[in-house]
This record gives sequence, C-alpha cells and structure tokens, in this order.
Amino acid sequence: MISVILGSQWGDEAKGKLTDMYAENADLVVRFQGGNNAGHTIVVGDETFKLRLLPSGIVQGKDVVLGNGMVIDPEVLHEEITELRSRNIDFGNIYISERAHVIMPYHKQEDVILEDLKGKLKAGTTKRGIGPCYSDKVSRIGIRFTDLIDQATFLEKLDTAYSIKERFFKSLGYDMEVSKDDIIKAYAGYASMFGTYVTDTPSLINKANDAGKRILFEGAQGTHLDIDFGIYPHNTSSNTVCGGACTGAGVPPRSINRVLGVVKAYTTRVGAGPVPTELTDAYGKHLANKGHEFGTVTGRPRRCGWLDLMLVKYAHMLNHFDGIFITKLDVLCGLDTVKVCTGYEVDGEVMDHFPANMDVLARCTPVYKEFDGWDFACDEVLEKGYDSLPANAKSYLKFIESELRIPLYGVSVGPRRHETFTFKDIF
Ligand code: GDP
Ligand code: IMO
Ligand code: MG
Repeated sequence: MISVILGSQWGDEAKGKLTDMYAENADLVVRFQGGNNAGHTIVVGDETFKLRLLPSGIVQGKDVVLGNGMVIDPEVLHEEITELRSRNIDFGNIYISERAHVIMPYHKQEDVILEDLKGKLKAGTTKRGIGPCYSDKVSRIGIRFTDLIDQATFLEKLDTAYSIKERFFKSLGYDMEVSKDDIIKAYAGYASMFGTYVTDTPSLINKANDAGKRILFEGAQGTHLDIDFGIYPHNTSSNTVCGGACTGAGVPPRSINRVLGVVKAYTTRVGAGPVPTELTDAYGKHLANKGHEFGTVTGRPRRCGWLDLMLVKYAHMLNHFDGIFITKLDVLCGLDTVKVCTGYEVDGEVMDHFPANMDVLARCTPVYKEFDGWDFACDEVLEKGYDSLPANAKSYLKFIESELRIPLYGVSVGPRRHETFTFKDIF
C-alpha cells in the first residue's frame, strides 16, 4: 500500500514532522523528487533533526529510498549520514536509485551565476545546484548514480560535461571553481562510500508493494513550487505534485492508495514572486516570530501571510487529496482576528482558478473570511483532547474542511512528534 504526503502550498508545511509520525506504521519511506533544497524538521523530545536528503522515516529506523526523481549531492548525503550516526540513530537500510542524478560542484556554481543574471526572473533559489542538475538531466549530459559507481563511465561523462560547463562559464566571464582532478578525487570517494546503496529502486518498491508492505512517500517542496504548476519562474525544478511520485519513484499511478495534503494554517514563502496574502504588518511579524519562520536550509526569513485557500484548492485539483492535515495551528494563537483567503479578485472580476501569469497573480486581491481569534496552551489541549480547543479555533478548522470539501485527517499544534491530534491513519 502506498500513501503519499505532499505540501499543498509553497513548502515548509511540516511534511517532515508528519512523515516521521506516520512512518511509525510504515515499512519503507521514499523520497521521489528534489534534493537538498528540502529542509525537513523532526522534533522528538528535546532532539531536533533537520533532514535534507534522507527520507524522514530514517529517524524511526525505517528502510528508506532516495528515488530516481531526486538530484543528490553526495557531499551533503555523506554529512547527513555522518551526523545521524554521531547522534546514535539506529538506521534501517538506505537505498539510492541508480537513476538518480548526482549534483556536481559546477551545478552549485551555475546556480549562483544564473541567479545573478536573471534579474527579476530569479526564484531566490537555495543555491544548492538543483536547477542546473535537473537541466543537465533533461539535456542528457547529467551523471547518474549508476555512472558514479562505474569509474570508466564516470570519467567519460565528466569529461564531456566538464568541458561544456567550462566553455559556458568562460563565455559568461567565470572560471570553474573546482578543478576536474579535485572532482575526480572527491567523487571516487563517494562512489566507494555509496556503491553498496545503489540499486534498482523501482523493482524494490514495487516488490515491497506487491508483498503488502506499507510504503510512505514523502514529498519535498510544495505543489506551488512544482516545475509545471508552480509560480514559474520562481519555483523549483522538479514535479512536486502527486504525478511526480510515479515518475520519481517508478510506480504506476494505480498503485497509489492515499494522498495526504499538508496545509499550514497560514501561508509562508521563501524566495521571490507574488504572494497575494502576504502580511508586512504586525500580523505578519506575529506569524514569523511565533512560527520561527526562517528557512531550514538557508536560514532566510520566510514571507508570511494569511492562509490562502486558492493555493490549496488548486493543489487539491492537481493531487486529489484524500485528506488534509492542518499544521501549526498554535502559531495563530494570541491574535485578535484571523483571516482566510477564499478567492481572488483581479480587475474587478473574481478569479475561478489559480493564475499562471505572474503579472495577473501580482494584481490579485484576496477575498477574506474573517474569524475571531483564540488562544490555548498546547500541553493543556493535548492533555484534555481535541474538544478542549477554543470554539473559535474549531470554527476555523471546520471552515477550512468544509470550504475545501476534504476530510480533516489531523491537526498539529506544536513541533514535537506527539503534539498532534490525529483522526485518521494513512495506511
Ligand atoms: P517541511 O519542509 O514541510 O518538512 O517543514 P519544515 O521542517 O521546513 O518547517 C516546519 C517547521 O515548523 C519546523 O521547524 C517544525 O519543527 C515546525 N512545526 C511543525 N509542526 C508544527 C506545529 O504544529 N506547530 C509549531 N509551532 N511548529 C511546528
Ligand atoms: P521543503 O521540502 C520552501 C524554493 C526556493 C526558491 C525556489 C527554487 O523544505 O518544503 P531551488 O533551490 O529549488 O532551485 O529554489 O524554491 N524552495 C523551497 N521553499 N521549502 C522548500 O523545501 C523549498 N525548496 C525550494 O526558496 O524560491
Ligand atoms: Mg522545509
């Protein structure tokens, strides 16, 4: 049985927390897209883990797969594994798809160069080489893990890619920051480190599924960062929507049994582009401070705003969520009023879909439904149960559920694993 956890907004919805929580009942946890642009936080007791590449099930000791749709920086993977080992995490097996692409030092350099040249078209990327690595995949000059572990092929492919990049960078006035020899040395080390992890992961996942295992797919980024459906060009370079789980892990669409949409109780965005419900006033500051809204990967402050149901409705159309999990409800505590955007008006007309055109999105004015605020102490409501939440908070949740017409699978009221009301399992 395959269940997929996806972000419904612009990332950082708390996918990591929920993947860790639901992984307790899973046999295998899979990442299918993105790379170390992701930053997934898991808090267990007093310990905080920030995962960038390894699926969040690793902390529960589950077997994990880094799927073919991912772009993987072996240096970061090495750091992440070393850190978890030093913290005495009991690992399951780690499997890396032989088809996953390898992030090279020149991808990171290219990311920085291109961002600089793009002016107002820039995304505000994480500068981790994600876009350039995916570009090389599509241009068919990428290096895959199957190449990395076969030295002759690696040298041949590196030779071609390196000389193309060298000429490209030179034409823009840049020298290569890392020499070919240094790359060969470092990547030979990664090949021997990860050689035994590299395998045919689609066969592994499909066999596990046929054997009745419970498989959890962990999305990275969010629906509105998708390369096709996100706020292009301020989005990421992979398919973050549910379809990406099929192509990025090698499973048929019909094998997916359940899709969970993670909905942060308000909106955040790291990077450039229009954010219709953005708040630059005291309410925005409240969300940023109380929600600790700073990027897990880059430490950049996240832009904050009211919950935007236009984003989530469009995400539901693309992914067909069986359920939603609303996270960070506690961050809205202490406000006199809380608003939810239910639609956009542009040039005096009501939009019936999420616009593809960024100039149109920038002109959208949110239509709001307003709620009276609330306050609660997390420990107290967790002890007394869901019904003890203030009536105003419950009306807010009810409204979201009925407006979206998607069942509420749970509500998160704090960063820790247990700080959650869960109504429905996803297996
Ligand atoms: P992801 O990228 O979707 O996994 O999300 P991130 O880990 O980047 O960002 C979510 C942040 O919110 C992390 O710092 C979590 O520890 C924290 N968090 C998760 N759920 C809750 C919650 O219900 N309340 C609060 N206050 N923090 C939460
Ligand atoms: P998680 O999995 C939030 C954003 C970047 C930038 C754009 C492109 O933690 O939710 P990239 O480096 O991917 O080329 O940057 O996408 N972005 C994210 N924003 N959460 C993420 O991941 C993100 N991954 C990329 O800020 O605007
Ligand atoms: Mg994150």
